[in-house]
Order: sequence, then structure tokens, then C-alpha cells
Amino acid sequence: MATAQQPSIDERRSAAADRLRAFGQQHLLAFWDRLTDAARSNLLDEIDALPLELLQQAIAHRSSEAKSDRKGIVPVHPIVMDQLDTDPYVRAGSAVIAANRVAAFTVAGGQGTRLGSDGPKGTFPATPILRKSLFEVFAESIGAARDRWSARIPWLIMTSPLNHAETSRFFAAHDWFGLGPGSVHLLVQGTLPSLDRAGRILLASESTIALNPDGHGGALRALDQTGWLDRLAHEGIDTLSYFQVDNPLCKPIDPLFIGLHHVHPDSSAEVSSKVVEKTSPTEKVGVFCQRGESRFVMEYSDMSREMTEARDTSGALLHRAGSIAVHVFGVSFLKRLARDGHGLPLHQASKKVPCIDPQTGLQTVPTEPNAIKLESFIFDTVPAAKRALVAQTTRVEEFAPIKNAIGDDSPATSNALQSERAAQWLERCGVQIARDSKTGQCLAEIELSPRTALDAATLAKCATLPVSISAGERLAL
Ligand code: UD1
Repeated sequence: MATAQQPSIDERRSAAADRLRAFGQQHLLAFWDRLTDAARSNLLDEIDALPLELLQQAIAHRSSEAKSDRKGIVPVHPIVMDQLDTDPYVRAGSAVIAANRVAAFTVAGGQGTRLGSDGPKGTFPATPILRKSLFEVFAESIGAARDRWSARIPWLIMTSPLNHAETSRFFAAHDWFGLGPGSVHLLVQGTLPSLDRAGRILLASESTIALNPDGHGGALRALDQTGWLDRLAHEGIDTLSYFQVDNPLCKPIDPLFIGLHHVHPDSSAEVSSKVVEKTSPTEKVGVFCQRGESRFVMEYSDMSREMTEARDTSGALLHRAGSIAVHVFGVSFLKRLARDGHGLPLHQASKKVPCIDPQTGLQTVPTEPNAIKLESFIFDTVPAAKRALVAQTTRVEEFAPIKNAIGDDSPATSNALQSERAAQWLERCGVQIARDSKTGQCLAEIELSPRTALDAATLAKCATLPVSISAGERLAL
């Protein structure tokens, strides 16, 4: 049988050159004559994978719509979880979990540059006393949920080409934290090229393009192209519980939230999102907004100062539904979006990207931002939902992200919140906790494993609770 002839490298080059020329990106072949055959082939592979039309559209929309058009935007008023009769929702959510309809999904492909740590962020030691990694905390939580509901709960983790191998090694070295490698699945997200200010794609070397992970919105493409969306549906899993790798207090499997997603009248079971009340105008969280019937997240960097600082008549921030980037997605919703193409908008950020000068070939290690990175955001799926439920939780219960080495959202602030949540749960079980008489601050350091308790109610059933915890004590339970 005749086989189709592979194009020669010259034919491939010529086709790539035509395509690049049509988009003003022909400089990517500037060093062709100096390259080895292997380097040429690698460069052509990278060029072939470039979504040039998409890039051109992104360049044309340089000033994003969100920045230019803020008319008619009003705040979203979330469902306040604390004020609900939660029992029916917890029962409904528990039934969904027990019926093996839920998978956990962590996005862990980011570069963690702000934290100044080299490894994948999930490997960062996050807990106050035992210094467990973020991945270990989530693994314990998912393991405890599997036991509690006798459910399979597969755990999907999205990595990027930059940290996949290391993440994989980390899990293997820790024996998959006892979860069984067959139930934890790493999938790699795609990449997009960085651009210079004129919209030209940057070269990292003479034969490689400067590529960055395509944002957590890349999850849609990654889940679809790896076959995971079909596989989940095939396995009867209709609910994807989504969270970021940076928040050790998040509840990977929350029966109340899953119940709200499935049976609350405000929900279409397509996407549900958690928020906390944003208390400071400068807090770097996206905010849930609404225009007409359509809900969406406006990223902090896209909000005008006027919008961030606006207050309502009670003096509270007007736009205060701060996204903690925890969502529940309907698998069929994601499949619908995937079928319509993965067309989430591309957001642009000014970054420092090492690259080479396409004229001289000289390496530049920038000290100031020199490039535009493009990323899509998963929360841009929200407007596509028939109805998008937004539920407000309490900060200390669910939000203690580790993003910066020091200051806000750092290991220190996260550890304090982890300790405080543990203290509050213990107090609800009758344990006396030493607190500062003036500030009310907890004076002990407490670490509570999700294996010990997934919530205050299960903690009450724990036989080994102390009677009291005194000032300066460090206790891991
Ligand atoms: C993010 C949200 C913000 C939200 C806040 C809550 C964005 C743009 N903003 O801010 O609305 O209020 O969290 O903490 O997301 N990731 C990938 N692949 C990528 C890029 C990121 O998997 O290509 C993952 C990271 O590993 C991390 C998460 O996405 O788990 C968030 O990314 P990051 O860029 O740190 O977002 P923030 O600016 O902190």
C-alpha cells in the first residue's frame, strides 16, 4: 500500500515561511542557515503549533474590552452560605459525591514567580508546624473525602511543560500520598508565545520560541484534548470540583457547595463559584460583576481605581464579591464549550521574558518588562453559563492563599489563617484556646490535618481532642 510521502524539511520550511509571512512573523526563521537539522525540525514543530490567527486577533484587541467598556456593570449579590439552611444542600451534595459523580481538579501549571520558589508551587511547604506541601494537604483532604463517602473521586492535576516532570517526580517520591497512582492524573496544559510590544513573537534561542503556559483557561483545551472530558462523562462523572494550587484552606470536595451547584434554584449546574468579601480595595482578587443577566469576573488588574474604591451606602466596598478561584463545573458545560472551540479571550500581561534579538542573535535578560504574555482565564467561561451561581463563604474557613514570599498572601499570613481556622473548629468542640484578651488573636499555633477532620462537625467526633491549648503551644492534630 502506498504511504503518503512526508514533506522534506525544505518543503516544510517553505510552507512555514509562507504562513509566517502572512502574519508578519517571518523573523522566526532568521537563523535557519545556522541551525542543525534537529534544531530546524524542532523549530518547525513549534511554528506549526502556533495559533497565528488567534494571536493576530489578540494583538488587534490590545486594549482589552474589559478595560474600555465598564458601562452598566453592577455588583453581584452572592448567596451567603452562612445564612442558608444548609442541611438539604449538604445532603444533596453528599449524594452526588457518594454516587461517584465528582472528580477533583487542581490547576498547578503556574510559574510561582512571585513566591520566589523554584519548584512547582504544589511542592511548597505550606502548613504551620509539619510543613506539609500544598499537594500533601490536598491529597489528605481528597483521601478523607474518599473514605467519608466511600467514593472514587479521581484527582486531576493540570501541570505545564515547565513543571510537569518535577511534579510527577514529586508525587512518585511521596508514593502518591497513599492515594494510589491510578487515581491521581497529571495532564499537561498547552503554551502560547510571548510577544514584543509590536506584536512580534519572541525567540528564546535561535531555534526555540519563547513559550509560556497558556493560563488556567488552558484547562479547557487540556481536558478536552487529553480525552479527559469524554472519559469523565463516560465514567458517569458530571461534576468537576476546581481549585487552585495555592490555597491550603480550600475544600477540594465540599458537599454544601456541590449541593448548591446541583439543586439551588439559582444554579444551572453549569458553573458555580465561591467568593469571600473583599475588605480592602487593594486586595488582588478578581471580582464577580454583572451586566444585564450576564455574570462575569473582572480581574483586579482590569478594574479602574474608581471601581475598586467605590463604596455602597453602608460604607462597604461596592464590588466586594472577591473570587477565591474555587468553582464547580458541569462536565457537560465544559464539553459544550470545548465543542464550540476553546475560544476564551486572551488576556495580556507585561512581563520580563529573556529572549534573543532577531537581528543580531544577542541574548537579552531584561530588567524591565519587555514582553507581553498571553493567557486565557478559566473564569471567562462564566458568562457562557445559562445561570452562574455565586456563593459567599468566610475567609477564615476557605481562603489563605500563598502567593508572595512576604507581606499579603504569604506563608506567614496563610499559616496564621490555618491556625485560626483550626482554633475556631476546636472551640466549637468545646476546647479552650488561649487568645489575646484585647485583639482576640489565637496565641497558639495549631495545625489540623484534613485526615483528622474535614470540617468542625467531624472534628467533634474525634476522640483525642485536648481540653485546652495554652499560649505558645504548638499542636498538630
Ligand atoms: C487568581 C485569580 C484571581 C483570584 C485569585 C484568588 C487569575 C488571573 N486571577 O489570581 O481572580 O481572585 O487567584 O486567589 O487567575 N495556573 C495554571 N496555568 C497557568 C497559569 C496559572 O495552572 O498557565 C494556575 C496556578 O498554578 C495557580 C492559579 O492558576 O494555581 C492562579 O494563577 P495566578 O497567576 O497565581 O493567579 P493570581 O494572580 O494569584
